[in-house]
Amino acid sequence: MKIRSVLSMFRSALKETLKDYKYNCHHLKIRRECGSEKDFATLRMYCHMLDKAMNNPSFEKGHSMRVYESSKTLCFNLMSKYQGDPAFRWALEIVERFKEAQEKGVPKLVDVNARVYSLDERSFISDFINSRISCRNFKSNQIEENALKEIVSLAVDAPNGCCRQTVRFHITQDAEIIHKIMPHVAGMTNFTNVPCVVFVCAESSFYDLIDKKLQYVDASLAAENFILASRLYGIYGTMCNFFHASEKDVADCKSLLHIKSSENVVMVIAMGYPQKLPEKPVRRDVESFYEIV
Ligand SMILES: Cc1cc2nc3c(=O)[nH]c(=O)nc-3n(C[C@H](O)[C@H](O)[C@H](O)COP(=O)(O)O)c2cc1C
Repeated sequence: MKIRSVLSMFRSALKETLKDYKYNCHHLKIRRECGSEKDFATLRMYCHMLDKAMNNPSFEKGHSMRVYESSKTLCFNLMSKYQGDPAFRWALEIVERFKEAQEKGVPKLVDVNARVYSLDERSFISDFINSRISCRNFKSNQIEENALKEIVSLAVDAPNGCCRQTVRFHITQDAEIIHKIMPHVAGMTNFTNVPCVVFVCAESSFYDLIDKKLQYVDASLAAENFILASRLYGIYGTMCNFFHASEKDVADCKSLLHIKSSENVVMVIAMGYPQKLPEKPVRRDVESFYEIV
């Protein structure tokens, strides 16, 4: 290998290492500074552990008591601020059920219906999933706020690491803001008339440094639900890469959309009612995507 290419590799590796180091310091600082929101996320995580333990057919009395005690303390400390939140009420219910399970030795479980789909329903739902296409040119119609709320409520139903619920959607239909944002998003080329832009972010302070990358998984899963849910309303969207953005690009967009410094932008979605749908790029043979071992 030529000395010049070794030096270039070394420079690139060093640049990324320094970036990671800077990010890690920022992450730890933010996590230290974050108050009750982080504690509430921890409570959801603990209650998810207790819930899992109770749903385990070989439930063992006396296990997870430290998590239970910490959950009780968190419930007490957070009650006044979050008692109106459905996720907090769920946490209270789980803590109470766990206490009963310790007393009786058997957890009280609710029967959940496992719906089975007919062939027709399966075909209908498969068509719906396949109907998602990345569209890049839109009509100028605005999307109603109620529709956006419904879409977000389906989006956040996605699985998420330990129930921390860290995804945040920053949505704008303000033409002036969109005009200012578009040049900062390198992937937004060949788009016409974008009426709605969504910044999909992750609240990073809810993760320890060791699982910081989970935030990208969580936000991506929610983003896919978001795009699929939009299809229910005749709305199409395209996910756009934001990882090439410079520090200035990120700062400018965050400032335009009032995004907190503890939130990381995971991707950007351009969406709206389609002017003309493109054909869907053809996937490889399904066999190339999986292996049964
Ligand atoms: C993480 C991610 C980043 C993407 N970034 C861009 C982008 O920057 N610009 C763009 O036009 N499309 C982007 N796309 C859309 C892909 O090009 C598109 O999903 C792919 O070509 C398959 O087409 P389909 O979505 O219509 O099935 C992105 C998709 C994903 C999942």
